[in-house]
Amino acid sequence: MTENLTIPQHIAVIMDGNGRWAEARGKKRVQGHKEGVERARDVIQQCGKMGVKVLTLFAFSSENWKRPESEVSFLMNLFITALSREAKALNKNNVRLKVIGDVSRFDEKLQKTITKAEDLTADNSGLLLQIAANYGGQWDILNAVNTALSKREGSVADAPLTQQELEDNLITAGAVFPDLMIRTGGEHRISNFLLWQAAYSELYFADHLWPDFGVDALMEAINDFSRRQRRFGLTGEQVESKGTE
Ligand code: IPE
Ligand code: IPE
Ligand code: MG
Repeated sequence: MTENLTIPQHIAVIMDGNGRWAEARGKKRVQGHKEGVERARDVIQQCGKMGVKVLTLFAFSSENWKRPESEVSFLMNLFITALSREAKALNKNNVRLKVIGDVSRFDEKLQKTITKAEDLTADNSGLLLQIAANYGGQWDILNAVNTALSKREGSVADAPLTQQELEDNLITAGAVFPDLMIRTGGEHRISNFLLWQAAYSELYFADHLWPDFGVDALMEAINDFSRRQRRFGLTGEQVESKGTE
């Protein structure tokens, strides 16, 4: 089953289903988030081992602020403890951590924890781990447009914005776009994740709730990805002849 695996350069994951995982066990929803951190660690390790270049994990969306205050504050504290606890191990494993999202809305303590972990791992050359927190795809695009416009000077000021200018100012600038986007938890939607960047991602939906999504399930997703033909608008025949050139 694992022969001829194509390892995606960039895997993006919508880690959904923590609350339902906990509720099914008669636990509080937040226990699912705690367990979810463990699965994130497993997946990060496995991606590092396989030589994946970029892993993006959706941890908190710009819409998740609308959840009950107690759940939001639990999640904020969980970020702080998980980031402080894991930063050293990530560094040891040559992982470069980047938090993508509007971090200005986080309290000072969390912002400091993020900066510290990012600074510690900044020079690492292994896996780029992007944690999407207070991230929204619409925010990302709008922010990129406004940032690009603000950088313009002189004669180009009134020219139409180019695709390159926009992409250079996305929060993920510099990273390849996701080849494979996985969503756990059984829902078939993007929920405002990497809207621009996912234009040609292969989508994979798993019924596993995130705390049940282990290395085996990840390998199943990669195996499924390996069997797909990515056409990027070409015909299947064109893609095949390119491959044999
Ligand atoms: C995903 O799990 C984690 C976050 C959105 C923070 P959920 O908390 O959405 O779990 P379900 O979907 O309610 O089961
Ligand atoms: C998406 O999950 C966001 C994260 C996994 C962080 P949600 O649970 O917030 O998505 P919806 O609301 O069901 O679409
Ligand atoms: Mg959910």
